[in-house]
Amino acid sequence: MEIALLGGTGDIGEGLALRWAYDTDHEIVIGSREADRAAGKAEEYEVELDSRGVDVDIAGESNADAAAGADVIVLAVPAYHLADTIEAVVDDLADDAILVTPAVGMKRDEAGFHYNRPGVGSVTELAAEAAPEGVPVVGAFHNLPAGRLANLDADLGIDTAIVGDDGDAVETVTTLAEDIDGLRAVDAGPLANAAEIEAITPLLINVAKNNEGMHDLGVRFQ
Ligand SMILES: NC(=O)c1ccc[n+]([C@@H]2O[C@H](COP(=O)([O-])OP(=O)(O)OC[C@H]3O[C@@H](n4cnc5c(N)ncnc54)[C@H](OP(=O)(O)O)[C@@H]3O)[C@@H](O)[C@H]2O)c1
Repeated sequence: MEIALLGGTGDIGEGLALRWAYDTDHEIVIGSREADRAAGKAEEYEVELDSRGVDVDIAGESNADAAAGADVIVLAVPAYHLADTIEAVVDDLADDAILVTPAVGMKRDEAGFHYNRPGVGSVTELAAEAAPEGVPVVGAFHNLPAGRLANLDADLGIDTAIVGDDGDAVETVTTLAEDIDGLRAVDAGPLANAAEIEAITPLLINVAKNNEGMHDLGVRFQ
């Protein structure tokens, strides 16, 4: 499959790109608002993989070019820029494209991080509202620790909860998630359940911050 990571120049994009490139044969395309930045990051990822004996081509392009022709498009951008990012690529999406959002809206105060739930219910549902008619949106990867993903020496042993209203799209994203070694996908139901997943992310950050030796936390449902 061709997987485009819009904002793949950032932390979660890097982690997912490295893991998919390391563990699978999927074609990875890094997107950015600046094509040059995407190309530079793609090269960095190639160098990291090459140092581990994996010779792979990773493309780096503008978000629109990255989205064009991709089977699955991961919106690896800050929550408040999700709708703009979808808007910027909407004319380039393939007919059967699937949009995936890992985005979580958070605010921070002196106590810690808090889930900033948008009026529509969740950031995932915000993405679904911004998506063109007929393009399925799946919520996934919200609770993954980017640093642990990007460290290819680290065993994952964690879960990602997946939400979506389109069964085929959920199945595709579930398979892609499980193609990453040590990552298990669990079905958390329809998009209307996304807020419960998104709200776990600030909890993970608060626990990491308040407990010595805990960092890059993920979730394992058992
Ligand atoms: N970091 C994590 O551990 C983690 C885990 C799970 C989920 N998430 C979610 O994944 C998303 C990305 O997180 P991240 O930590 O990777 O974020 P990030 O590194 O801060 O940003 C990712 C990319 O977003 C792009 N971006 C920044 N401002 C933008 C804007 N105004 N409009 C469009 N694109 C913009 C940038 O790419 P260009 O400048 O190259 O365009 C940037 O490299 C967030 O919604 C976050 O909640 C993060």
